[in-house]
Amino acid sequence: MEHPDDAGVYRISDSLALIQTLDFFTPVVDDPYSFGQIAVANSLSDVYAMGGEPRLAMNIICFPVNTMDISVLEEVLEGGSDKMREAGVLLVGGHSVEDAEIKYGLSVTGFVHPDKVLRNTGAIPGDALVLTKPIGTGIIATAIKASEVGSETIERAVKLMSELNRKPAEIMKKYNIHACTDVTGFGLIGHAFEMIEATGTGIVFHAEKIPVIPQALELASMGFIPAGAYRNRDFRMNMVENRGISDEKMICLFDPQTSGGLLTALPFTEAEILIKQLKDEGIENAEIIGEIIDNERNKIIII
Ligand code: CO
Ligand code: CO
Repeated sequence: MEHPDDAGVYRISDSLALIQTLDFFTPVVDDPYSFGQIAVANSLSDVYAMGGEPRLAMNIICFPVNTMDISVLEEVLEGGSDKMREAGVLLVGGHSVEDAEIKYGLSVTGFVHPDKVLRNTGAIPGDALVLTKPIGTGIIATAIKASEVGSETIERAVKLMSELNRKPAEIMKKYNIHACTDVTGFGLIGHAFEMIEATGTGIVFHAEKIPVIPQALELASMGFIPAGAYRNRDFRMNMVENRGISDEKMICLFDPQTSGGLLTALPFTEAEILIKQLKDEGIENAEIIGEIIDNERNKIIII
């Protein structure tokens, strides 16, 4: 636990290791079926980020049985089951408790070859950083709660958040990946920082290359910024050097993501081929967003 990774890994034999993780949260969108889909995609993501394949899952359910219609829960669970089926994951049980607010997620078991585990550390100077999904879902979820988002934007955000990280993870297996994680609660900068923490290296991000959901920038400028984004910023800002990007874009880099994309480090020449392959296979927002450098210790420079 001294350097937390995306999930726990336990070696069973020379050719097999177990991956375990759990995640659950309150709704980020109003539609129960979509919430179920997003919660499952989010819960499975940490297994993909470790280079593994999720196989078994158990539901974690908190539900206000006296104040909410049971059909809401049924829809959430249907969304979840459909997403598990898509991922090839078998639901083998679960547990529910009564609670004031609905919460849903999974405990997940996956497998990986012990030599193929992807850590969130191990990036080296000269590596490119690749991100597979645009950021800004925390800002959009905040604006949804204030009913300030059009249906088209909600649809776009739901599609992004319910998209499994399975395909990019599968594609990456053919590349020389040095480090991998998924962008979630700490935001892009927080998770990027975990990659370089205590390694003596730094990161340069090219702001114009970082994919942001366009409406998120607009909503951020209107003040729809989740408390978590400010917390992330307060925690990491002293390690960040902003060389001239706007306040709106900056806060997006700290925006806590739900079911965000994979952030991965690999040699530059390979990253260019990877990006092409990702785009060819429908991961259209994947971009090289920066690189690991050796002359700025524990610093993230944004140009
Ligand atoms: Co993670
Ligand atoms: Co997690």
